[in-house]
Amino acid sequence: MHLLVTGGAGFIGANFVHLTRRTRPDVSITVVDSMTYAANRDSLAGLDAVRIVEVDVSELAVVDPLVAEADVVVHFAAESHNDNSLDSPWPFLRSNIMGTFSVLEACRKHGTRLHHISTDEVYGDLDLDDPSKFDEFTPYNPSSPYSASKASSDLLVRAWVRSFGVRATISNCSNNYGPYQHVEKFIPRQITEVLEGRRPKLYGAGLNVRDWIHVDDHNSAVWSILDRGEMGRTYLIGADGEVNNLTVVQTILKLMGRDPNGFDHVSDRPGHDLRYAIDSSTLRRELGWKPDFVDFEAGLQATIDWFTHNRGWWQPQKAAVEAKYARTQEVIK
Ligand code: TYD
Repeated sequence: MHLLVTGGAGFIGANFVHLTRRTRPDVSITVVDSMTYAANRDSLAGLDAVRIVEVDVSELAVVDPLVAEADVVVHFAAESHNDNSLDSPWPFLRSNIMGTFSVLEACRKHGTRLHHISTDEVYGDLDLDDPSKFDEFTPYNPSSPYSASKASSDLLVRAWVRSFGVRATISNCSNNYGPYQHVEKFIPRQITEVLEGRRPKLYGAGLNVRDWIHVDDHNSAVWSILDRGEMGRTYLIGADGEVNNLTVVQTILKLMGRDPNGFDHVSDRPGHDLRYAIDSSTLRRELGWKPDFVDFEAGLQATIDWFTHNRGWWQPQKAAVEAKYARTQEVIK
């Protein structure tokens, strides 16, 4: 099998390439990645038989021949950080909407099977005391330019399935954590703040809840969908990992041997989604998938260890990320 992995030098895509190399030696892989700030060639260093093509997926003329030679396309490429989408929405529309359009057009032309990676953020948010979770039937209700652009991309995929018979599946996953995650994101930001001798930064009161899943569990679910998923279907991926941000920060501090209250509250994100929660029972029941990382503290410890031992991977980006945050975020006394 020949796989085309878009966004394969980004966080989730690179981990997907690693997992595939470890578990599926017969699969050959081409990564197509525009190598924006969020991608890192070093995330794929040392991997055999992975071809890397540096190009923006929204450039159909370049993507088309790559799709033509692939058996399956797994489409990770996306701008994914909410805070950046509030600062500057256009790259999100270009990469997430136009990028998906171009991948769809190439898959339509060549009859190539597509799996589209998306997010639970397309569903908006839930109240803290709402007993329900997101499932396949939850209406789309995105809050930010990022989630609106991902919702748009999902709808394009559904339309290409229905109107053109493109063989595609979609997955909407909850918040990922693990190795190779960019230091602008919540968990790596806090771990690396502590490693640099500074205090973690919590938005608002920290009561917002995210449903954390280890990136390897996300990607093993993607493989279950590639192996056994039904064309045209949407699968929700989650590992029952609901935790509020305050608890995440305090756990990181505790695991790193610091005072659990040694963090700063900073100004809140505008429009900040309160809670995400995924009901993944359909995926578990129909495709027999289950997560391996069921102990969040153990997964966090492994992630702390990875960032501790891979300073050379994240340190070059850290100062610029913090300088950018410093322009918009103030410590609340
Ligand atoms: P993030 O990693 O940006 O993911 P998302 O916005 O897709 O959920 O943020 C996760 C949560 O952590 C979110 O509620 C915002 C919050 N957060 C902080 O409290 N401090 C931070 O420094 C960052 C980056 C995020």
